[in-house]
Parts: sequence; structure tokens; C-alpha cells
Amino acid sequence: MAILVTGGAGYIGSHTVLALKLRGDQVVILDNLCNASREVINRIEKLAGGGKVVFVEGDIRNRACLRDLFSSNDISAVIHFAALKAVGESTRIPLVYYDNNVTGTVVLLEEMNRSGVYNFIFSSSATVYGANAPVPYVETTPICAPSSPYGTSKMMVEFVMREFAFAEPKFKAIALRYFNPVGANESGEMGEDPVGIPNNLLPCIAQVAIGRLPYLRVFGNDYPTVDGTCQRDYIHVVDLAEGHLKALDYLSKVKGYKVYNLGGGKCYSVLEMIKAFEIASGKYIPYKIKPRRNGDLATFWADTRLAEKDLDWRVSRGITEMMRDTWNWYLKNPNGFR
Ligand code: NAD
Ligand code: UFG
Repeated sequence: MAILVTGGAGYIGSHTVLALKLRGDQVVILDNLCNASREVINRIEKLAGGGKVVFVEGDIRNRACLRDLFSSNDISAVIHFAALKAVGESTRIPLVYYDNNVTGTVVLLEEMNRSGVYNFIFSSSATVYGANAPVPYVETTPICAPSSPYGTSKMMVEFVMREFAFAEPKFKAIALRYFNPVGANESGEMGEDPVGIPNNLLPCIAQVAIGRLPYLRVFGNDYPTVDGTCQRDYIHVVDLAEGHLKALDYLSKVKGYKVYNLGGGKCYSVLEMIKAFEIASGKYIPYKIKPRRNGDLATFWADTRLAEKDLDWRVSRGITEMMRDTWNWYLKNPNGFR
């Protein structure tokens, strides 16, 4: 039996595939490489101690590809990472996002159904809580109106999963709402490799440190937070990957559809992140205060109690490890996987 990991060549997917391989699970990756490099597969194989990773280059919207994949592999569960994820881009090309993220997931679920595969884990996001949810975010808060087509695509897939679970009793599904993933494998061999100019905070800080960006733009210092800059609940990608294994193991106990926050339960401001990175790297990070970025919320973090109780999962890596591993990855791979 094997686990199908869609988007398994991407940032979070590759760390999850490695964690699965390290505990002896069989894995098949399906990825169209629209935001990933083939080199990732070599790195996973190396870090897992040899052993081939089955990699299928293909698109989740391609039914023929999915049918072939399900008929030629004994798939017991699907962890579904494949998606487009740039919030700003999603506002410019919303239809592309809905097609890839929503239609793609519907096609995948249809083909799973056809092949009798009913175990499903989905990468959702804290963005589904929208702008008005009280903090910390709790899974029982009704979700509505995320602030971008990207966020709406995640919310729509959660609704699709919930409705399908009502209709098909064999379907067992967990949506994992990630907070802010950062960090890299401790070896420095695998990490986040954003295409073009990054949007997320830590890749931007790291690019300033390696001299690819002249300074960091800090978007707003007049928020009602500790120091006026936005606060987020950053989570080490290896902790996040381990959360997927715990969710996979818990699926057999799930009746229908469940949702869990995967976050650390505390938050750091932009200025605190800069300081922590400076300590880890020994590099000075110049920054300039810029106007607020559209759509940013002042602060949010996860209520982690449900994941702790049901999944027996909590983060074990803190801000020191997040910064150390990010810096190690950039030092060893200043050009990413290329
Ligand atoms: P990523 O871009 O590194 O990984 C996504 C992978 O999916 C890429 O390798 C890409 O090539 C592949 N892909 C995209 N569309 C595809 C398609 N139609 N068919 C096949 N493969 C396709 O992103 P990531 O950061 O690893 O994110 C993984 C998942 O987690 C995504 O669903 C994302 O929306 C979600 N998520 C990410 C974050 C974050 O900050 N990184 C936060 C919350 C949720
Ligand atoms: N920031 C800067 N300068 C930068 C980049 C970011 O000041 O160059 C700030 C942002 O304004 C924000 C904070 O750093 O206050 C974090 O920004 P990120 O872009 O790293 O993360 P977001 O919280 O905006 O977005 C993340 C994920 C999205 C997801 C969203 C909501 O990247 O996928 O969380 O959960 F939708």
C-alpha cells in the first residue's frame, strides 16, 4: 500500500514525503512541477537513505493520468498539497486559481471515488477564518469570506469535502489549517525555493541576508501589536510534516470530515522575526518601514488544543530552530534547487 502525495515536490509536500519515507511508508508523488524542481526528488531519496521515490509528473486535473496512477499503484490514502498559493496573484487571475485548486480537487476526489480510495488529507489554511474571527483561531468558529480568491478556494474545498463526507460514508477526510510555515530540513539539503521575488516574510529576510535584496520592506508599523508590526504564528515545516503523519494515523478513527489547526499557538512580530534571524545568522538585516500591505491582518495565532487532544501532535521546534534551519538552507543553496 502507498500514500499518494499530490504536490509532493513542493515545499511542505517534500518534507512530508521525507517524513513518510523515514518511517517506512511507500509513497507516490504526483506533481506537475509548476512550482517545484525535479531535483527535490533526488534530495528526498538522499535524505531518506537511498530507496527510490516513485514520482509521476502530471496534473491533478488530468483524469487519464489519475486513472493510470490509481490502477497501477495500490493507494491507501491521498495527502493533497497540490495547489497554487500566491495570495496576490490569485486576485489577478482568480479563475486560474479556482480551476487549479477547486476543480483540480474535485477531479481528484472523483477519481479517488472511482478507484475506491476514501482516505484524504487536505492542505487548508488559517486564511479561511477571514478577517473577523476572534483570536486565537478555534476550529469551531464558522468560516466565511476569506480575503482573497486563494483563501476562498481553500474554503470551497473544505465545503466540498464536508458535503462529500455527508454523501459517502466511506469517505474519511481531514482538513489541516496551516498557520505560517517556515524553516527547512535540518541538513540544509531541502527547503523553500520560491520562484521569482518571494512574498513571504522569511524568504524575504533570507534574501536580504544573502545579498539578493538590498533591504527588507516592513509592511506597516502602526498595527495594534507589541511593536506595531504584524504578528503571525510561525510553524517549522518539519513539525508541520509530522502533523500530517499524525493526521494520517488518526484517519481510521474519523467519521466523515474533521478540521484541525496546525500552528504553534504563539505569535511573533515582523521585528521579532528580523531580530531572531540576525541572531541565528550573525547578519545585519536592514529594513525600511513601508505602508501596510493590502489584506494583512494585525495578528492571529492558532488554538492548538484540538490537534493536541485528537492527533497527539504539538510543535517541538521553536523560533531558534526555524531561523537556524532557514539560514542553513540558504547558505548551502543560495540558488535554491537550481
Ligand atoms: P508549493 O508551491 O511549494 O507546493 C505545491 C506543489 O503543488 C508544487 O510542487 C506544484 O508544482 C504542485 N502543483 C500545483 N498545482 C498542481 C497541479 N494542478 N497538479 C499537480 N501539481 C500541482 O506550496 P507549499 O508551500 O508546499 O504548499 C502546499 C499546500 O499547502 C498548498 O495547498 C498551499 O495552498 C497550502 N498552504 C501553504 C501555506 C504556506 O505558507 N506555504 C500556508 C497555508 C496553506
Ligand atoms: N511581511 C513584511 N515584509 C515582507 C513580507 C512580509 O513585512 O517582505 C509581513 C507581512 O506584512 C505580514 C507578515 O510579514 O505581516 C507575514 O507575511 P507572509 O506573507 O509571510 O504571511 P501571511 O500571513 O501574509 O500569509 C500566510 C501564507 C498564506 C496564507 C496566509 C493566511 O503565506 O498562504 O498566511 O494564513 F493565506
